[in-house]
Amino acid sequence: MRYAAITDRLAGLGSDKWAVHWRAKSLCADGVPVIMLTIGEPDVPTPAELIEAATRAMLAGRTGYSSGRGEEPVLAALAAKYSARTGRTVGVDQLMYFPGTQTALYAVMQGLAETGTEVLVGDPLYATYDGVIRASGARRVSVPLRREHGFHMLADDVEAMVSERSRVILINTPHNPTGAVLTRDEIGAIGEVAEAHDLWIVSDEVYESIIFDGEFASPFDDARLAQRTVVVSSLSKSHAVTGFRAGWCVGPAEFTHKLLPLSEAMLFGAQPFIADMAAIALSRTFPVTGQMREAYRRRAETLVRRLGNTTGLKVMMPQGGMFAMVDITRLGIGGEAFAAGLLEQEQVAVMPGEAFGTEGAGLVRVSLTVPDDDIEIACDRIIAFVERLTAGAA
Ligand SMILES: Cc1ncc(COP(=O)(O)O)c(C=O)c1O
Repeated sequence: MRYAAITDRLAGLGSDKWAVHWRAKSLCADGVPVIMLTIGEPDVPTPAELIEAATRAMLAGRTGYSSGRGEEPVLAALAAKYSARTGRTVGVDQLMYFPGTQTALYAVMQGLAETGTEVLVGDPLYATYDGVIRASGARRVSVPLRREHGFHMLADDVEAMVSERSRVILINTPHNPTGAVLTRDEIGAIGEVAEAHDLWIVSDEVYESIIFDGEFASPFDDARLAQRTVVVSSLSKSHAVTGFRAGWCVGPAEFTHKLLPLSEAMLFGAQPFIADMAAIALSRTFPVTGQMREAYRRRAETLVRRLGNTTGLKVMMPQGGMFAMVDITRLGIGGEAFAAGLLEQEQVAVMPGEAFGTEGAGLVRVSLTVPDDDIEIACDRIIAFVERLTAGAA
């Protein structure tokens, strides 16, 4: 049978990169007590109030079709959020509700990028970006996020990679996997590159609420850049509702008008009862958001304190997000060998930095989404592993 070229463009994406994660899962299934530090799944339960809100909405009959743009209550809640954040009036005509950031990003990229164009994105990068860009037909162009600059995307590095085919700059702040939080000035400078070359900025802000150091900044909050910016985000990380799939995009009204038929073709709307839950989640601050942020900060600090003194390891304190990067270059082995050895010998699963791009070489990513006690035990085991490694090399 014949298949469309998109299946080839996406074939095999990710499977090798996640080898350690899948191996760890299968060890867990066999009863091996692996500490899973591979993925970013909040370790707190979804707030009962939000589950009740979705249940109430279902019982009230909010189980029919929705529209391509989304349900009125959640759109109104989002318009209020972004109007308050930007200080401008953000209308419902600038918003589209999607089942999660991932779907929003997919649709947005389909609306902006295509074969023959290029999407500039920082490397290291979030694992699914490659697939989203390739699916659009565009080519990914990597902008190196340099360790010596705390993995911040610098405008000069973006400018150096611009070509006549460039269409979109994809930014992510706070950043997965590095935890970098871009400053207003850095975003302003990247915005100048976008303006000079007439590029879109797609801003993935799924970790907006998880900042330990610095302030959140977005190109959408700058009135000048808002005309060329589309934000994608969700409640997944802020409200511990990853499986509910509650996300959105916000951008210029003309953009959402253009994207609407695509969303209708893709989705024919999302679930009204989840959208009602999202409207309630957005209506006020939920304690779970601050609790998760403080837990991640505390766990990252534990990693820095416990592993920072271990020969050969350098834990880079993230400024935000759910992960910490550990520099293992001085050990003389790559991230893949480190992660594989650590799993087999000490039953701790971390992600090799190479899974996130060329600039991830010599790093491993540690998820902060396990209880504090497990982080302490993982530190004991990592120290034991490193001591064995360095003793062997001596
Ligand atoms: C940078 C980034 N963007 C998007 C997503 C997907 O978020 P959602 O659950 O809203 O689809 C994730 C999930 O880990 C992420 O890390």
